[in-house]
Amino acid sequence: MLTNAAVSFFVLASAVLQGVDGLTIQKRGSAGCGKSHNFIGETRDFSFESSGGNRTYRIFLPSGYDVNNPQPLVIAYHGSGGTPSAIESLTKFSDESINSKMVAVYPAGVNGNWQGPTYATPGVSDKVFTTDLVNRIKNNYCIDESRVYAAGQSNGGGFVNTLACSPEHGGQFAAFAASSAALYTDVTGDETCHPSRSPLPFLESHGTGDTTIPYEGGTGRGGPIPAIPEWLSRWSTRNKCTGSSTSELGNGVSLQEWTCSGEKGLLSHYKLEGHPHAYPSESDAQLFLSPKIIDFFNRHKKS
Ligand SMILES: *[C@@H]1O[C@H](CO)[C@@H](O)[C@H](O)[C@H]1NC(C)=O
Repeated sequence: MLTNAAVSFFVLASAVLQGVDGLTIQKRGSAGCGKSHNFIGETRDFSFESSGGNRTYRIFLPSGYDVNNPQPLVIAYHGSGGTPSAIESLTKFSDESINSKMVAVYPAGVNGNWQGPTYATPGVSDKVFTTDLVNRIKNNYCIDESRVYAAGQSNGGGFVNTLACSPEHGGQFAAFAASSAALYTDVTGDETCHPSRSPLPFLESHGTGDTTIPYEGGTGRGGPIPAIPEWLSRWSTRNKCTGSSTSELGNGVSLQEWTCSGEKGLLSHYKLEGHPHAYPSESDAQLFLSPKIIDFFNRHKKS
């Protein structure tokens, strides 16, 4: 039951939000709204205790960051052996020509890895760390709780799928995106995947020239991995999609979009002909993935 105080708070919060933008009434502001920060338009590194010990992350606040206006949040996971600054440069999520609205957070894996493959650090739950991290960011910054997203490259992309498959730790996200995903936790079927709701918007991009995490599946450095089309067909079932259509975008890039719950592209896959195991960055000859990810995230919010 809402107390009178809670009701007046909501009325007040709605009024504030409406003042900014008539559409923002649906935003759900986090506990960090109203707290000021001295690095707007910049990035900072922080650390805190969570599963795996002292965990570090980098955070970018866009120059339009407003303490009273809830912003979307994207968590970007680096690949195995990567770093927060490396995935920040690859994605350019801290570059306002690519991302001018979202708070971007780049966490560091323990020993450079994320849970899932055999080479990950034993005993570390990056799912628990992720929930701790998201809660910490929501408590310290003004985040739209209906617009929290996860993106990742390779081991980080596989971990994004691990999150999407988690009933306890995936539900806080509105949509997921992965590049060259190393899908060690979702190999053969649905026994390891219990999404918190259906459908869950997911975008994946993969090169057919990937020899580290082969498009046709097999075995990666961290164990068995599924064929990408087979893994996609499982998400198509999980998301209750009714069919898909494919468009050729040129440069050996095709986009397959599934219609799920009446929405075209709720499940989307970029297939990059001959592309190696690499994030399609701004200098990539075939595709710059980040603007596609940002567009995809902008189309999805959690109700
Ligand atoms: C955690 O790691 C960061 C980055 O390496 C370091 O600056 C900080 O002092 C560490 N904190 C603790 C409590 O060890």
